[in-house]
Amino acid sequence: MKLFIDTANVAEIRRAADMGVICGVTTNPSLIAKEGRDFVEVVKEIASIVDGPISAEVISLEADKMVKEAQEFIAKMPEFEDNIVVKLPFCEEGLKACKMLTDLGIDTNVTLIFSAAQAILAANAGATFVSPFLGRLDDIGTDGIALIEEIVEIFNEQLIDTEVIAASIRNPIHVTTCARIGCDIATVPYGVIMQMLNHPLTTSGIEKFLKDWDGFEKK
Ligand code: E4P
Repeated sequence: MKLFIDTANVAEIRRAADMGVICGVTTNPSLIAKEGRDFVEVVKEIASIVDGPISAEVISLEADKMVKEAQEFIAKMPEFEDNIVVKLPFCEEGLKACKMLTDLGIDTNVTLIFSAAQAILAANAGATFVSPFLGRLDDIGTDGIALIEEIVEIFNEQLIDTEVIAASIRNPIHVTTCARIGCDIATVPYGVIMQMLNHPLTTSGIEKFLKDWDGFEKK
């Protein structure tokens, strides 16, 4: 399973990219706003760090305006046009924009997917990626993993090319479970990548190896 990082913080992206563990980035309006930086400037900087799909979300609510907004920001970073994926909210206008952008050869990520039926609609509209939000379902006492499993099963059964990005990841078990059930991609917050990295037995194992090596060298 491929890993993307779910953040607009370039320091976090750089650290994850330096470890070689991520091959894409997802952002959303909340994550961009948190950074307090110009949208185009931050997306450009992200694209200069990671050579892979970078999801940048539109905020317009009508299809024509979504397409125009996407074309405008892509035009401001022509050097990264092959990497920019236009993130569209799941709704009727978002699906219309998805079809229009697909016809123009522009990649899309339909986000805020909370049912398999929505994922099927997005795939039929030509979405390159769909982003079901598993953590937000768990938050309201619904089984988020079950949704990922259902979408993965349907897309496999129907030979649908659209890739499934498990989004709204809250912990390492979400990541490993998504991998076990055959999800294409998980987009993981930086904090969860760090949780995946750490294990107390690895830390104490390294300390013990170094301590034993020190003792051996002194003999
Ligand atoms: C997906 O692309 C979204 O940016 C993200 O995963 C939302 O997660 P949240 O529920 O933690 O806001």
